Amino acid sequence: MRIKSITNLLAGSLALSGLRSVAQQTPFTSPDTNEWYTLPKEIKKVAVIGAGPSGLQSAAALLKEGFDVRLIERSDAPGGNWYHNDLTPVRESYPDGPLETAAYLPVPRSNGTEYYEDGDDGLTLLERWREHIRPSPIWDDLETNSSPAFTTLPEIDYPKDVTWALQAQNVQRHVRTYASTHGLNVNDRPINSSVSKIVYYSTRVERLRKAGSSWTLSLKRLTRLPESRKIKAEWWEESFDAVVVAAGGYHAAHVPDIKGLVEWSKVRQSDGHFPVEHSQHYRNPQLYRGKTVLIVGASVSASEISRRIGPHVEKLYMSIRDTTRDTYMARRSIRRLYPEAEQIPEVVELGSLYSNTSLKDGQIKLINGSWFDGIDEIILATGFRRSLPFLQDFYSIGGKATPDKDNSPILTDAHDLHSLAWTGHYIPDPTLAFVNVRPWTFGRYQSLAFAKIWKGTARLPNKDRLWKQYFNDNHWQAPAKVVFGTIEEETLGRQYVAWLNQESLIHGGRFVDQWPLEDRERFAYYSDEAWEHGYTSSDNFTRIENTPQDEWPTYPRAGDHSPDYEFDSGSEW
Ligand SMILES: Cc1cc2nc3c(=O)[nH]c(=O)nc-3n(C[C@H](O)[C@H](O)[C@H](O)COP(=O)(O)OP(=O)(O)OC[C@H]3O[C@@H](n4cnc5c(N)ncnc54)[C@H](O)[C@@H]3O)c2cc1C
Ligand SMILES: NC(=O)c1ccc[n+]([C@@H]2O[C@H](COP(=O)([O-])OP(=O)(O)OC[C@H]3O[C@@H](n4cnc5c(N)ncnc54)[C@H](OP(=O)(O)O)[C@@H]3O)[C@@H](O)[C@H]2O)c1
Ligand SMILES: *[C@@H]1O[C@H](CO)[C@@H](O)[C@H](O)[C@H]1NC(C)=O
Ligand SMILES: *[C@@H]1O[C@H](CO)[C@@H](O)[C@H](O)[C@H]1NC(C)=O
Ligand SMILES: *[C@@H]1O[C@H](CO)[C@@H](O)[C@H](O)[C@H]1NC(C)=O
Ligand SMILES: *[C@@H]1O[C@H](CO)[C@@H](O)[C@H](O)[C@H]1NC(C)=O
Ligand SMILES: *[C@@H]1O[C@H](CO)[C@@H](O)[C@H](O)[C@H]1NC(C)=O
Repeated sequence: MRIKSITNLLAGSLALSGLRSVAQQTPFTSPDTNEWYTLPKEIKKVAVIGAGPSGLQSAAALLKEGFDVRLIERSDAPGGNWYHNDLTPVRESYPDGPLETAAYLPVPRSNGTEYYEDGDDGLTLLERWREHIRPSPIWDDLETNSSPAFTTLPEIDYPKDVTWALQAQNVQRHVRTYASTHGLNVNDRPINSSVSKIVYYSTRVERLRKAGSSWTLSLKRLTRLPESRKIKAEWWEESFDAVVVAAGGYHAAHVPDIKGLVEWSKVRQSDGHFPVEHSQHYRNPQLYRGKTVLIVGASVSASEISRRIGPHVEKLYMSIRDTTRDTYMARRSIRRLYPEAEQIPEVVELGSLYSNTSLKDGQIKLINGSWFDGIDEIILATGFRRSLPFLQDFYSIGGKATPDKDNSPILTDAHDLHSLAWTGHYIPDPTLAFVNVRPWTFGRYQSLAFAKIWKGTARLPNKDRLWKQYFNDNHWQAPAKVVFGTIEEETLGRQYVAWLNQESLIHGGRFVDQWPLEDRERFAYYSDEAWEHGYTSSDNFTRIENTPQDEWPTYPRAGDHSPDYEFDSGSEW
């Protein structure tokens, strides 16, 4: 569906009828107390796992509501995916590792302290540190592929000179500014001195489990001790009344199941570099200068990396599977491929190697039966998996959500979170909740919902109703599925605002604003430009990407392709 028609629908009658059907199913004002979920006990202490754009928003909302909050982040600074430093990610496993279930993961330690030296357990100190904090897959000059109108956190502005495509550096600063504004940055002292510490950085949640009426978190903190050239590890457990999981979605690189790939992945050059790498390791084009490179994949990582290395390589091949690409992001990615790259079909087999330091004479078989060779480097731009080992007690591989009051699984495969209410609460036990910010602006409503429900100033439908909604209507499954630019997301946003404000009317509390009209219009303009125009030259994209903030137009606009509809800024918005 073209974005124009989506925005058209939003502005037009279908969006309204969609909304009406949602509203009809929502007895927002039911006076029957049995219709609503009752908290098992008063919620006081809440853990938020992850200090990216999601977790920071949740922690801020919970603090504002007066909860005793701990924000727990394995890395040593806030930012999540946008925390970029000199460290590259931990090497992916070949083949893909299994999902972490309690069946084979060891029970994490519950207490104690240990000191590690360089080389202990065959790990350097740097390797031990990287394994703990898990550096993000962001490259040096990465730019956002999302509109700045919703790649933004509440009440923090981007500098006036930023462009449509935000530099990762600017995004990182934006997220850190938000963290500092709310006293959630590294070393920030709590604004309210009744607690000693709100933020736990360099601290990883190793296991989450329910013990009695509380959640117990097994925690592990690493501290670098440069003077003694050691790393100190501490384990402890802490109990909470409620938990927000804001641990992100791109944890583990996905390695495709290609015959021979495991053997090829072992090839290593004398400088330690692996010529077969997942796109998570890409930082800049330097390594690829003058080489023959194969990129596997056709999505965002594949196309963005191809554009960056294309001008510097000897020859670039892109292995793209034969499939329909009918989402806006898939079409955009194909248009953005480096134009001089040679597109080849799916790779199905990698032949035996004679050298353990080079791929050069390795034969590569394509799905059409042809073989070729001469590749120096392979970049697997084959995507990511969710990997949340601390949820080991909730995983079920290959299972499905069942309306089971206590046992319906959260994560049933490497991608989707299941059994979550539209608010993000885990239906079998709504004292556990997940926040998913794609787009970021959505996190505000989800975070307010957690804070208000756990405070008792907003009511969550009871479990039976949540399951009914979950199974009967796609809209209600949205927190696990939200991506930007869909009608579901806009509808869900409105649903949140309507419900939160209704609850405030009954129980007191501030009103929430809808996503501002100006931002929605900017978003519509940006999406139309960036996703839908049949651009064929990188000039076209560069022109949009480099438009400075003070020139960002909104719909309706003048010019050759003005929209065939108009936004109505009247009452229906
Ligand atoms: C290469 C790349 C480019 C992207 N580009 C864009 C873009 O242009 N626009 C866009 O909107 N989105 C983009 N994204 C998506 C990105 O995930 C979101 O922008 C955003 O970062 C999501 O925020 P989050 O807080 O939900 O998750 P994250 O930013 O991933 O933060 C999760 C945090 O949880 C922490 N954590 C995880 N497990 C544990 C644990 N066990 N204990 C303690 N802490 C833990 C992590 O260390 C991390 O800091 C991109 C993603 C990737 C991989
Ligand atoms: N801001 C940015 O510039 C930026 C940069 C990178 C990533 N991101 C974000 O990060 C997220 C992940 O993006 P991503 O591109 O890394 O992953 P992705 O969108 O999941 O794409 C994975 C790609 O790998 C391909 N693939 C998987 N197995 C394959 C095989 N055996 N052979 C050939 N191709 C195979 C898939 O092919 P099919 O298409 O055929 O299924 C798909 O094209 C997205 O949300 C994206 O927006 C953003
Ligand atoms: C400390 O940890 C050890 C090993 O994990 C365990 O056997 C012991 O019971 C723990 N002690 C306490 C007080 O939790
Ligand atoms: C600090 O927190 C306590 C307990 O939640 C609250 O009563 C008090 O008003 C807070 N003080 C400030 C300055 O916010
Ligand atoms: C298979 O695809 C490659 C790359 O596009 C091409 O060079 C080759 O001729 C094709 N082989 C066959 C048998 O079609
Ligand atoms: C490569 O092979 C040589 C000679 O057989 C061996 O000494 C070396 O350790 C191997 N390197 C790797 C990375 O396996
Ligand atoms: C795209 O770029 C080409 C060449 O740079 C230009 O001729 C064309 O008009 C551009 N298209 C749009 C829609 O701007």
